Amino acid sequence: MFTWLINAKPIHMKSLTGLALILLLFVACSQNPASLKETSLNHKADSVLKLMTLQEKIGQMVLYTSDWDVTGPTIRSSYLDDIKKGNCGNIFNAHTVSYVRTLQEAAVKESRLGIPLLFGYDVIHGYKTIFPISLGEACSWDMAAIEKSARVSAIEASASGLNWTFAPMVDISVEPRWGRVSEGAGEDPFLGSCIARARVKGFQGTNLSDTSTILACVKHFAAYGAPLAGRDYNTVDMSKRVFLDTYFPPYKAAIEAGAGSVMTSFNELDGVPSTGNKYLLTELLRKEMGFKGFVVTDYTSINEMVNHGIVANEEEAGALALNAGVDMDMQGEIYFKYLAKQVKSGIVKEKQIDDAVRRILRVKFELGLFDDPYKYCNEAREKAEVYSKENLDAALDVAKRSLVLLKNDNETLPLRKGEKIAVIGELAASKRDLLGSWIAAGKWENIPSLLDAMKAYQPDILYAEGCKKMGDDKTGFAEALRTAAKADKIVLVIGESCDWCGEASSRSNIQVPGVQTDLLAELKKLGKPVVVVLMNGRPLDLSREEVLADAMLETWFAGSMGGQAITQVLFGEYNPSAKLTMSFPRNLGQVPIYYYEKNTGRPIYLPNDKYKSKYIDVPNDPLFPFGFGLSYTTFEYSNLKLSNTVLNKNGNLKATVQVKNTGKVPGEEVVQLYVRDLVGSVTRPVKELKGFTKLSLNPDETKTVEFTVTSDMLAFHRLDMSYGTEPGEFLLFVGGNSRDVLQKGFQLN
Ligand code: BGC
Repeated sequence: MFTWLINAKPIHMKSLTGLALILLLFVACSQNPASLKETSLNHKADSVLKLMTLQEKIGQMVLYTSDWDVTGPTIRSSYLDDIKKGNCGNIFNAHTVSYVRTLQEAAVKESRLGIPLLFGYDVIHGYKTIFPISLGEACSWDMAAIEKSARVSAIEASASGLNWTFAPMVDISVEPRWGRVSEGAGEDPFLGSCIARARVKGFQGTNLSDTSTILACVKHFAAYGAPLAGRDYNTVDMSKRVFLDTYFPPYKAAIEAGAGSVMTSFNELDGVPSTGNKYLLTELLRKEMGFKGFVVTDYTSINEMVNHGIVANEEEAGALALNAGVDMDMQGEIYFKYLAKQVKSGIVKEKQIDDAVRRILRVKFELGLFDDPYKYCNEAREKAEVYSKENLDAALDVAKRSLVLLKNDNETLPLRKGEKIAVIGELAASKRDLLGSWIAAGKWENIPSLLDAMKAYQPDILYAEGCKKMGDDKTGFAEALRTAAKADKIVLVIGESCDWCGEASSRSNIQVPGVQTDLLAELKKLGKPVVVVLMNGRPLDLSREEVLADAMLETWFAGSMGGQAITQVLFGEYNPSAKLTMSFPRNLGQVPIYYYEKNTGRPIYLPNDKYKSKYIDVPNDPLFPFGFGLSYTTFEYSNLKLSNTVLNKNGNLKATVQVKNTGKVPGEEVVQLYVRDLVGSVTRPVKELKGFTKLSLNPDETKTVEFTVTSDMLAFHRLDMSYGTEPGEFLLFVGGNSRDVLQKGFQLN
């Protein structure tokens, strides 16, 4: 314990007096284990704090990037100097044991107090072994698989020197134009909350000081997923009720699951940028939720408050951020430049700095960095853990579970062994695209493309590129048509480039780019079954493709093992079981489109033809609804029963339904439970997901699924903004997607 103190060049270092120890012991004895841990962490952090100069304290509130991703493992000499002077307590984008050790040594051996650095990185869907993009993983509805993905990511990242990931990203979004939907879990607050919990658990485990776990960072707080017009970084404007009932739950779930840090978002909410938003960072996060970790900015979002027009200059921006509750400045250099001066002039109080530093130091203690700053620096472990066979197997498993079968007429899929297959499309041969955005240390050069994997499975596969994923060049069509003409079935791989999803990648058109769909139309004329394999990071407008294709498989960007996973699904080695977690619109004009819409005063089912809430040129419903996904088998739902027609406030009722596998092969089905509150003091959504379960069924097998419904599942922010339920009539729905459901009514007393 406190081995780091050995390195400190002493100033007024005094150990605790006997009296203080007795006092501490006394306080400790009268506390429960959680508050005991709190007291102990505070005490440890304070014992460091009292040794620190103001400048050193501010240093802990600073996070700088290494230049790794730009020029290899380097750090600006000024930053290295800052580390040595105690002016920089945290680094991101620096990884691998040898590099991390070098920087950690600079902090521990050369700074006056030797306080170890935090090392952060965007380990979003894998460190080196890359899992499917988060939106794809979410479609597995498989919490064990999602937790495992985060676990493997944490194991690899921690083996490579890292102790902090900027994940999970839990921003709810109904905006397919927004490129960052690829990083989240989709449109639903309930499912999003379950996934947020699973990811935090996977990263942090049960004990942060375990060397194979890393600190999670919930982002982007808050409501970053709702930029107007889907344009990244754009204004967010929504009612407080919508924010609290729809956008807030996954952040809350992640924090309740123990996430130790929170990242602010770039956007404003109700006119105040998140990074300067005291309501969000102090009232809601700290006071209401009791969050004890630290808050870091998203990149230079303190500086950006000048552009937002909420402050006149950067100095004011720094004070606004600190007063709002921001503890750490990522890359902006605002805290570093102005805080000391502001303490001296009285604009901010040193106590505020102490509080922020305490929160940061506590986490460093929790990670065990003070006991051993090099605990994540073990070359042998790095060699053994990173990219291990076990991790790749996990990535393959999760990838298979994330592929959504959207259409399968005439049992076009699975492909049968011996069928002559022509694979067409640039994306089929692309390795890089398979990994998606935020690929951390992922390497694509040595992974098999989908084409490689299909050829390994069936060597006589034919291939032609046909066209590029972008652009209007059709000169490759002729060769593609000649190649396809020799086959029994055509597999056309189309979609987006991987850099069309992720940050700063908003689109104003969500159709399949370029001439890829024109190629599909030409191939279709050959009269052979065409399977469309989609690679993309957002819901697309697939109206044209849906008419032309005989089968469609949504594969997202499926990760390091994506090629093999897609191959296994195409050839029926794995029966697809994933379900969409974002609605796929018929066209962009329907956006935003989501299943939990309101009924309106003029719902579409009214008998008149005109004056109702509808389009004149397209149906209201999406092309593929939330929760939708096919299997190579079929499932039949029957016998929905409620144990009672009345639910008492403190009681529960059981909903049971029978699900039968009516097809020829074993399969897995995600059974979904929705409710509707028919009358409320404020209008209520037409459906809200409240439960789900995934089950496996053999052909002809029937299972009874039971859900327990309790009144707290029916709570919302009522007219007076209090959170709770209202008695009255409800509908309960169960089905395999949000559209095709059985229903029963019940009353809440
Ligand atoms: C992104 C964050 C990310 C950070 C650090 C920002 O631009 O919005 O999601 O964690 O960069 O890389």
